Amino acid sequence: MKDKTFLMIPGPTPVPESVMLEIAKHPIGHRSGEFSKILHNVYENLKYVFRTKNDVFVYTSSGTGAMCAALENLVNEGDHVLSLVLGNFGNRWAKIAESRGAIVEKIEVATGEVIDPEVLRAKLAEDEEKKIKIVTLTHSETSTGAANDVKTLCSIIREHGALSVVDGVTSVCAMECNPDEWGIDVLVSGSQKGFMIPPGLAFLVANERAWKVYEECKHPSFYWDWAAYKKSVQADSTPFTPAVNLFAGLDKALEMIKAEGIENMNARHRRHAMALRAAIRAIGLELVVKDDKNASHSITSIYPPEGISVPDIRKVIKEDFDVLVANGQNALKDKIFRMGTLGFVCDRDVISAVGALEATLYKLGYKFELGKGVGTVIKELAREI
Ligand SMILES: Cc1ncc(COP(=O)(O)O)c(C=O)c1O
Repeated sequence: MKDKTFLMIPGPTPVPESVMLEIAKHPIGHRSGEFSKILHNVYENLKYVFRTKNDVFVYTSSGTGAMCAALENLVNEGDHVLSLVLGNFGNRWAKIAESRGAIVEKIEVATGEVIDPEVLRAKLAEDEEKKIKIVTLTHSETSTGAANDVKTLCSIIREHGALSVVDGVTSVCAMECNPDEWGIDVLVSGSQKGFMIPPGLAFLVANERAWKVYEECKHPSFYWDWAAYKKSVQADSTPFTPAVNLFAGLDKALEMIKAEGIENMNARHRRHAMALRAAIRAIGLELVVKDDKNASHSITSIYPPEGISVPDIRKVIKEDFDVLVANGQNALKDKIFRMGTLGFVCDRDVISAVGALEATLYKLGYKFELGKGVGTVIKELAREI
């Protein structure tokens, strides 16, 4: 049976039917009163989701656009940027900073590991002249499934005085991410992740410290310019023609998030990720992130069993069950596969995905106790947390 695709990848993620129906409506004028009303709700509700008093800018772009919107409004040529790299997306910050002429240094960790706060503290302590202007970091590193302790890392960055610029593309909505309380200076995210809408919108929130640095940026970007977006947010407008249909979908999705409650949404993601991790261990497969406390709640990376290839797992689970799981990226391609539990995901989805994975591995000849994963996931989900 086809036309029942079930996305268990880290984005795009499943979209609720009520959101799809909003998106399917005829486009409306982006300067109309009707659209202004949508924007008004969206801008208000985004502050709730981002747990911030600051304005949240919405760009018509993918998540990388918001990453560019962060650094291209802050970095001058010759600025020193320290990038904390857990994988592909941590590296992306470094590349964007380099594209603006920054002098980039990195702290890199092995696959599946996270940044040790003491290593960061020591690195910043060496910078006696306070040359490092910006530290970039990733909350949930989608290429490995590891998640940094952003709260601790940002407090260390704040002690040094540099600006913290955080990628929350697969963490906002899924994991607690509290920019105002944790002192995150700039936070970005993307729509096709925890927000339960298709790709095409990206988000950025910046605090007063970040605005001071923006004011010293010699060549702020045109399309991403914070000042233009701030002015627009305050007028319930957008600077350019936005993806109006996606905004209508976002309006609906934000209503759903508010109804669930952001804390409950975070807890749901944690519960699903932990249940999935327990099931993977029960099946006898190895997780890329060993320690639960370092695990992302939106994405779980898994090594295939010996003798069974990642492309075969992905092919069978797609062909037999219409379930999509992601391959590894770059050096991890064909070495790991990744399962998302991000956004519009319920218990049924997690149980089904584990069942489909077990059936796939069984078909491919992996020897294990059939049903152990499904049994474990059911028990884990039944536990009070
Ligand atoms: C952590 C993280 N950062 C950045 C991005 C880039 O987002 P996009 O592909 O929407 O440009 C992704 C996409 O998967 C991501 O997972």
